[in-house]
Amino acid sequence: MLQISQLHKSYPIGDSSLHVLKGIDLSVEEGEMVAIMGSSGSGKSTLLNIIGMLDEADSGDYILDGLKIKDLTEKKAAVYRNKFLGFIFQSFNLINYKNALENVALPLYYQGMKRKERQELAMYHLEKVGLANWAHHLPKELSGGQKQRVAIARALAANPKLLLADEPTGALDTVTSHEIMAFIQQLNDEGKTILMVTHEEDIANMCKRIVRLRDGVIIEDTKVEQVRAEQHV
Ligand SMILES: Nc1ncnc2c1ncn2[C@@H]1O[C@H](COP(=O)(O)OP(=O)(O)O)[C@@H](O)[C@H]1O
Ligand SMILES: [Mg+2]
Repeated sequence: MLQISQLHKSYPIGDSSLHVLKGIDLSVEEGEMVAIMGSSGSGKSTLLNIIGMLDEADSGDYILDGLKIKDLTEKKAAVYRNKFLGFIFQSFNLINYKNALENVALPLYYQGMKRKERQELAMYHLEKVGLANWAHHLPKELSGGQKQRVAIARALAANPKLLLADEPTGALDTVTSHEIMAFIQQLNDEGKTILMVTHEEDIANMCKRIVRLRDGVIIEDTKVEQVRAEQHV
């Protein structure tokens, strides 16, 4: 699914620079569920954003589904990103003046899908996350867990091959975190490849592999026995 080799990334800070990723090598196969761990500031989000084509590395290679990412034009990269990748964030990143259905339908609009078709597909995905009855509610009328489920439905609307999640349970209480993890595990059971940043051990143990970052390098990369999240929904 993806191969990364000798990836480096620095951020300029005044006259100097901060070397955040210092030669990352990482391969992920289709169907995996991987946790990226590390303390705050260790470069987890930077790595995930590069994998998600939201940011570019300074050097190294990144091949996604057989395609060398740095060879793509900006326009091609955007099309590829919309088709291939789904994102979930800690803070949900929903559009607050659009209702749940419109939020889920938005990526389909960017793909040029007709209104009726995208509304039907968005409704199908809202049903899958158990929120059909909340389709016409605004984000502010939803709980944190419901907002994250809308975000998951949105991430899945365009049927991406790879789902990227940056601290998806970071803003949720334990029970709700486990509900969201149960849902993500179910997606992985159905074959979706998942890459998730977390700094919580119990969340990481709900994945199948843990990659640990420290000071810009991978210090550990191990398969783990997956702990199943308790399902309350
Ligand atoms: N756009 C940026 N400009 C400058 N420094 C940044 C930027 N993004 C992140 N950093 C710095 O890079 C380091 C790694 O950040 P990040 O990847 O967000 O870490 P993590 O997600 O593991 O907490 C941190 O020290 C952070 O302050
Ligand atoms: Mg982060």
